[in-house]
Order: sequence, then structure tokens, then C-alpha cells
Amino acid sequence: MCRKLTIKDVPVEGKKVFVRVDYNVPLSGENVIDDSKIRATLPTMKYLLERGVRVIAATHLGRPKGRVVEELRLDPVAKRLSELLGVEVIKCNTVAGAEVERAVEALPPGGVLLLENVRFEPGEEKNDPGLAASFAALADLFVNDAFGTSHRAHASNCGITRHLPAVAGLLVEKELHYLNKSREKPQRPLAAILGGKKVADKIGVIEHFLNEADSLMLGGAMANTFLKARGLALGSSLYEEDKLDAAAEILSRSQKRRARLLLPLDVVIVETLRSNSPSKTVNVEDVPEGWIAVDIGPRTVDLYSGVIEEAKTVLWNGPLGAYEFEPFDWGTEMIARTIAGTGAESIIGGGDVVAALEKLGLSGKMTHLSTGGGATLEFWEDGELPGLAVLQEK
Ligand code: 3PG
Repeated sequence: MCRKLTIKDVPVEGKKVFVRVDYNVPLSGENVIDDSKIRATLPTMKYLLERGVRVIAATHLGRPKGRVVEELRLDPVAKRLSELLGVEVIKCNTVAGAEVERAVEALPPGGVLLLENVRFEPGEEKNDPGLAASFAALADLFVNDAFGTSHRAHASNCGITRHLPAVAGLLVEKELHYLNKSREKPQRPLAAILGGKKVADKIGVIEHFLNEADSLMLGGAMANTFLKARGLALGSSLYEEDKLDAAAEILSRSQKRRARLLLPLDVVIVETLRSNSPSKTVNVEDVPEGWIAVDIGPRTVDLYSGVIEEAKTVLWNGPLGAYEFEPFDWGTEMIARTIAGTGAESIIGGGDVVAALEKLGLSGKMTHLSTGGGATLEFWEDGELPGLAVLQEK
């Protein structure tokens, strides 16, 4: 199901290979708090290093917007990558220029060089041809192993491919295997779950699932915008005023679509959002003034669980409540446990749900945890991403 050439399809022995990775990982001071995105690239890294490749790795971290931001330097990432690979990773303090060129020249076969945060360069996000050419001049081959960044068209993942043969890494191959399968030949019934705060970045994928899935269940603050559009008061709950029309339009056409669109029936509400805030559960019609919906309630969990138990494929992006504040992670946990208990193929679209599943110790129960958040949503919607479209087809 991966139609792109991968590193296994082309000769790599002894080459200099520019590998775009997505090491956009959370840091605390000198340490990487969650190294799962780094671990996810180890198969590609090891495959290349075992073949005497000189690896020039590049990633962004955060959104420094073309400036050097000291806290977003990659030293902690280089340290963690060294530990995981068991080889010394040489870290450059710059993204391009003479220091980088010298470091590449000095790199032995089987050596790894990590460039500085590519978003320190203003040209990165502008997909600047000059920066792309300077990246390309360092190597003989380009490998995209940064699925999570593939919805961006930047110099280090798109521009560079104008100058070098470009293939997928093993992580991108794995992501495409599951995501293409779930999009093109899903086992039905196909149940999709979308949560999180914003409708704004999910309109396209909602439309896609309404046409292609058998059911679409909404939760999190984004569901509030739909409930509001249905005319409910919802107290002081978070919603997007400027997306009410879009939500009303989706609701009005939803009867004619393939998927059954399900919204919460009940919600857990609080007066102040903080962990262990006193709460109660009410039907969505009965949220009093001043109260905030922070989680789905038990009737909703029952409704959604019934749909999930019937499904053969479950796709999920976005938590169903304010999961960072215990115990308002309850709805997300219940739905995760239901999915874990079914034999359905479960594909989890990156970001917060993956973090929630890790915390619950349920990540191993899912078929595939994507390393992309925004990238997965855009892939589900379009079946293609700018950073993948530029890779060579099989
Ligand atoms: C992510 O963490 O989702 C990716 O690294 C993309 O980051 P971005 O949204 O800042 O482009």
C-alpha cells in the first residue's frame, strides 16, 4: 500500500543521504520528555548506517519563525538520538553554510550529523530555492522519514527534491501502509471519531468522513460548536463563533450523507476548569449558565461504544474532553478502552490522543499510532500530502 520508492528500492551503500525527520518532540531543559518520534525513525537510521551511509539528518523543533531561539536548539535531541542509536551524533550549530559543509566532509561512513533546527532559517518555511539547493548540495539522495511534517511544503522536505532523487524512509512507508489501507480499502463498518478543541482545522476531514465512513462521532470542544449550531445554550462552554455557520451547514446536509453523524448526548460540566474541579453530568440541553462542558458523559460513552463495538475499522483524532485535567480524561479513556477491547483495526491520528493512550498504557493495543497529527488529518482528507507527492513513485 506504499506506492513510493523507499530506501530499500534504491542503492544507498556508501552514499551521503539527507534524511528529513520529524523530531518535533517535547523538551524539558536538557531532556527529551517523549522520544517516540525519535524511536520511530530508528529502523531507517539503522538500515542506512549498516550500509555505510553518511547520514545528514534534519528536523524542525517548534515554531521559531526564522529566528534562532536558544531553547529550541537541537542538542537534547542529538543526545537522545546518540543514546538510542549507540553511535555518536555530531550536532551542527547552524543549518547551512561553511560549518555544515566542513562537518559533512569530516563525517565517516556510518556517521550521523544532525543539522541545527531548520526553522531557524527564514527560507525553510518559505521553501526558499537557495536554502533547498544548499541542503541538496550536501548529499546524493534525499529520504523523507518525517511523515508528521509532510503536510508542509518547506525547503527541507519539498524544495530539496528538485535537486536530488527522493524516496521514502521506513517510517513513512509504514504510515502510508496503514493510512492508505484505512482510506482506500477499509474493512466496514468504518467508524471515525474526531475530538479536540477546534472545528476550524477539521472541516475538510469531517466532510470526508461524512461521505466515506459509516459513522462519525464528535467530542471535545469542537462538538460544542455543533451543539451550539443546533441551538443549544451550553452555558459558558468553549465553542467557535465564526464556525457556527459551517457547522449548521454540515448538520443540515448530514442526513443525506453516507455516515451517521453522532454528537454528545450528555456532558460533564464544571464552573472552573482545573483538575478535580467539582463537576456534575447533565444532558446537553441542560448546561446551566456559567458552567463549562469538559468531557462527554456516560450516555454518550454508551452510544459511541455501541458503534465502536460494531466497527471493523476505527479512525480517531483528537481527545473527547479536557483530558489534561483529571478526571476529565474519563470519556477519552472509556472510548480508548472500548477500542482496545475490540478486534477492529484501529488507526490513531497522532498528537494528543497518542499522548493520552500512552498515559493510559493502551498504546500497544492499537493497530497503528501515527506520528502525524495535522498530517494525518490532511492525509485522511486528500489522500496525498505535499511532502509525499514529491517522492518517486514505485
Ligand atoms: C507536528 O508536531 O505535528 C509536526 O512536527 C508539524 O509541526 P508544525 O505544525 O509546527 O508544522
